[in-house]
Amino acid sequence: MARRPVLSATYEAPPNIALVKYWGVRDPERALPYNSSISVSLERLRSRTTVRFDPSLDGDRVTLNGETATGGPRDGVVRFLDRIRAMSNLELAADVRSDNNFPTASGLASSASGFAALAGAATAAANLRLSPRALSQLARFGSGSASRSVFGGFVEWRAGTRPDGQDCYARPMYGPRHWPSLVDLVLLVERAPVKEVRSADAMQQTVRTSPFYATRLRELPARLRKTRRAIGSRDAERLFPLVMEECDSFREVCETTRPSLDYLTATSRAILAEVRALNREAGRPIAAYTHDAGAHVHVFTLGRHLSRVRGRLGRLPGVERTLSLRPGPGGRRIEAG
Ligand code: DP6
Repeated sequence: MARRPVLSATYEAPPNIALVKYWGVRDPERALPYNSSISVSLERLRSRTTVRFDPSLDGDRVTLNGETATGGPRDGVVRFLDRIRAMSNLELAADVRSDNNFPTASGLASSASGFAALAGAATAAANLRLSPRALSQLARFGSGSASRSVFGGFVEWRAGTRPDGQDCYARPMYGPRHWPSLVDLVLLVERAPVKEVRSADAMQQTVRTSPFYATRLRELPARLRKTRRAIGSRDAERLFPLVMEECDSFREVCETTRPSLDYLTATSRAILAEVRALNREAGRPIAAYTHDAGAHVHVFTLGRHLSRVRGRLGRLPGVERTLSLRPGPGGRRIEAG
């Protein structure tokens, strides 16, 4: 049998933070969410992944941040590669190397950037030429939020309504330069607990057990509409209350899940309270908090309020580090692997 050439590609992708959250799957087989979600891709932070399909390997080798992956993290990557092998009729094992230029332990969503980068690298290495939309449709099988990390700036992942999932994909709403004065002040809190339950499983527990989940789904179409409009008109005073309302709704359904999902620490809660105090003192919304399934808090503000907001929040006890990040570019292939 003729040996196939070594097939290799490198791709990098950003993490994103959701302004309207994805939380709940209506079809696990096709990875279709109940609701559409909206996020901002962040500048500077990147996952960079190289995939090499190699005839000399007898099994997949997965290295994450310099360490050989085992167990769940390895299985997730291997399952994803199997999907790509099936799409491309490729039977070769792969060597996968993925590095984040930010600490994975920092709790910043590395599954979104990681699976978007893996989708980009593995499809390119397998010579599958996918459109960005098709890439986002594939990335969600690794991690739902990864579908949005394919694109830069402001991104909407449309839930769609078709049972076959054809109309479920992420697409860019506005590029990274649409709103350059918007800043995400990331507050990394000390002793952030390591996630016990994968988000993919936790959200299904919420769907099954939270008495508020149905109400949340009913409220979302209006919130999505208002959020799109506030981003479109770069209207912080409209956007910020919506972002906090959404975060509160997400937290409510998590906390009322059985068993309860409590992602925050006392420091995270102190940050939320301080943002409310800042807005009260200013007499208008100058900042908005949000968080994902973790203890770190993202606070959106405008460049002109940044030093005041960071001054107040950065010195709260238990805040370990802050990062100020603007909207950034999406995923891209890196030529020299
Ligand atoms: C709260 O897509 O990260 O961040 O499939 O377990 O990787 P996994 O889930 P993931 O869930 C994201 C949940 C969220 C909200 C969001 O990013 O929309």
